[in-house]
Amino acid sequence: MLPKDANNCPFLILAPMEGVGDSCFRKAIAALGGFDEAVRDFIRVPKNAHVKSLASVYDPHELAPIPLAAQIMGSDPELMAAMAQEMVRLGAHRIDLNCGCPSNTVTGRGAGSSLLKEPGYLHIVAKAIVQAVDIPVTLKMRSGYSDISLFRENLLAAQESGVRYITLHPRTKVDGYGPPARWDLIAEAKSILSIPLVGNGDILTVQHAIDMLSQTGCDALMIGRGSLINPFLFHQIRAHFAGQRYQPRWDDLVCYLDRYLSAMPEEIPEKTRINKLKQLLGFLFKSSDELQALRPTMLQNQQKDARFFLDHALSMLANHYS
Ligand SMILES: Cc1cc2nc3c(=O)[nH]c(=O)nc-3n(C[C@H](O)[C@H](O)[C@H](O)COP(=O)(O)O)c2cc1C
Repeated sequence: MLPKDANNCPFLILAPMEGVGDSCFRKAIAALGGFDEAVRDFIRVPKNAHVKSLASVYDPHELAPIPLAAQIMGSDPELMAAMAQEMVRLGAHRIDLNCGCPSNTVTGRGAGSSLLKEPGYLHIVAKAIVQAVDIPVTLKMRSGYSDISLFRENLLAAQESGVRYITLHPRTKVDGYGPPARWDLIAEAKSILSIPLVGNGDILTVQHAIDMLSQTGCDALMIGRGSLINPFLFHQIRAHFAGQRYQPRWDDLVCYLDRYLSAMPEEIPEKTRINKLKQLLGFLFKSSDELQALRPTMLQNQQKDARFFLDHALSMLANHYS
């Protein structure tokens, strides 16, 4: 579980990111590689759900040979257990329980970060899943709901449920994504837990990855937005541990963006394609001050054809890369 590579680089996980981190993005970044595993964005398991039809959106082989873990979000222990079994039937190698989603439509029904309000109930849901399947079950959590008063209790409730490891995104539900991630809480969690801990939050550079490891002692790293801004970040971290420097190649960036566009299902209207490109490129254009200055021009391009829109964005990027 969470093995380091030959150069002692920690296990690197691509974070689940509902919406922007969809299968088009996952396929595009998986072709670049550099990470060990990805986690799919959550699959909601609402009350009275029909688990078979919900589960069918999950393809464990989507990124083969890179494994894609399934993440489920809900609060009914029996349904969550049934959903986990369905995921196993589809070929999942790991099930992750979402205890972090801040969305009110989710938390209103007692799932996602709402589970952090009641460690005893979090324990019941996690344990129901652990007991239902014979593959590893893990849990991804925030540091609390409105505050961190139950931080320790939630960590221990999760650990005692039998999950193999915990991923901590150290912000509360109320924090959303605003204030800096509290890496000191990752260090604290590490001192509380005996199972492995994956550190997550605000890793945008190689130095951030090194700092998170040294400041927290966490066992592995999960990266989300940093990989949208810099899809080569995983390679750069890995190269650092090999005593090398990874220089992104222009051709790889072109392939990455081409793959993103070509992974979009045919039935998607042109306007939606362009909006999706804008969303992904919006992150990429945050990677330097120079590109940040060009971001509004890229976003305001009135081009109606997605291929031409992308070519225009590439021409802006090319100047920057040359
Ligand atoms: C657009 C977006 C969607 C997200 N969707 C999920 C999700 O489906 N499941 C989950 O556990 N976390 C989700 N997260 C949280 C991320 O996995 C991660 O914990 C958070 O962004 C902090 O890591 P980062 O700073 O590396 O992005 C999402 C985050 C963003 C920005």
